[in-house]
Amino acid sequence: MNILLLGSGGREHALAWKICQSEKLTRLYVAPGNAGTASLGTNINLAPDDFTGIGKFVSGKNIDMVVVGPEDPLVNGISDYFAQQHSIQHIPVIGPSKKAAMLEGSKEFAKAFMMRHNIPTARYKSVTSQNIAEGLDFLTVMKAPYVLKADGLAAGKGVLILNSIEDARNELSQMLSGKFGNASKTVLIEEHLTGTEISVFIITDGRSYKILPEAKDYKRVGKGDTGPNTGGMGAVSPVPFATPAFMKNVEEQIIIPTVAGLQRENIEYKGFIFFGLMNCGGNPYVIEYNARLGDPESEVTLPRLENDIIDLFISVATQTLDERTISINKSTVATVMLVSGGYPGTYEKGKMIHNLDLVRESLVFHAGTKTDGGAVVTNGGRVLALSSFGSDITAALSKSYRNAEIIEFERKYYRPDIGFDL
Ligand code: AMP
Ligand code: GLY
Repeated sequence: MNILLLGSGGREHALAWKICQSEKLTRLYVAPGNAGTASLGTNINLAPDDFTGIGKFVSGKNIDMVVVGPEDPLVNGISDYFAQQHSIQHIPVIGPSKKAAMLEGSKEFAKAFMMRHNIPTARYKSVTSQNIAEGLDFLTVMKAPYVLKADGLAAGKGVLILNSIEDARNELSQMLSGKFGNASKTVLIEEHLTGTEISVFIITDGRSYKILPEAKDYKRVGKGDTGPNTGGMGAVSPVPFATPAFMKNVEEQIIIPTVAGLQRENIEYKGFIFFGLMNCGGNPYVIEYNARLGDPESEVTLPRLENDIIDLFISVATQTLDERTISINKSTVATVMLVSGGYPGTYEKGKMIHNLDLVRESLVFHAGTKTDGGAVVTNGGRVLALSSFGSDITAALSKSYRNAEIIEFERKYYRPDIGFDL
């Protein structure tokens, strides 16, 4: 099979690495990819949002399947685009329809969906400039901290957690008057949930689903979960508190009603669902849905998946996933992100990366890199994910941290305490 993978981060390098392990693969193309994916397939200079360009490429290169990494093309309707174009409509796209991707693209849509299907989530009120007075009233009946969320995609910055009601009122007005552009024309005020976060993943063909390894992601930039939020500074899988009893609650209360709800509402979903959950004393609540895999979660979950991933993708396309059995490696995998100094604020790109050839006992997934002549240079905030297997979290992390020291680039930074709370 010839496969086109869309995206350019660590998640996509991990997907490319996993796809390349399949004997069913003939050629892999990645658009646009990074220096890591270039060693596994052919990088194509096409943006994941350039549907016309992608359609032409797919026809010209006899692509048999398109795998979508990031959310933007999904939310913008790449699956629907393929379904509507006569010349490419036979080519399966692994990624949900535009309507289904609204589970990620609109938090209001996701909340209303959860309400309709009795899926546990924080209480909320949806506010626009039309009913701002109701929003201010709702704040007075909530307790601090106050959670405000922009409805639309806001590059991970659209959630504010505020300690005083004055700040919450001010921010609500600012968001509604365009603080996050169109994304915050509608704002959700949510009850604050206390607990520990966990990322749970399924792959679904719209009828049945398979649960993939879960992970815990470390989003704050600083030691001890301090400082601003990032895309993710590291991750661990499995998660010790994801016991069989907890996962049974997740499956019965969240996964089953989600897949059944999509089916009942005739919303086509062929792809991954990422459930961002809060574990509140053993009871899971949905914080958010994502229509894709996580990053850096993929860098720990995909190494633990023992199935041929192309087989799973074919089963998704043909809606025969129920015939598959998922096989998961029992070892722990941990990943540590090396980032550019300054991230998630401003940082410089184009720094030469040294000693990649000296890495032992870790998988190196490129997140923000490119080739520059013969060299590999930094090309983003998150630069490299170092993933290692171990018999436990400590053993896995010690390998990742040893290699984190060995790799060098100017102003390299990494969190020293991934997994500290587990
Ligand atoms: P989201 O973009 O919805 O995942 O929110 C970003 C982060 O804000 C989450 O990862 C949580 O850490 C936090 N958060 C979101 N909603 C809530 C909530 N209702 N209660 C507590 N924390 C939340
Ligand atoms: N690591 C969180 C995400 O991929 O959204």
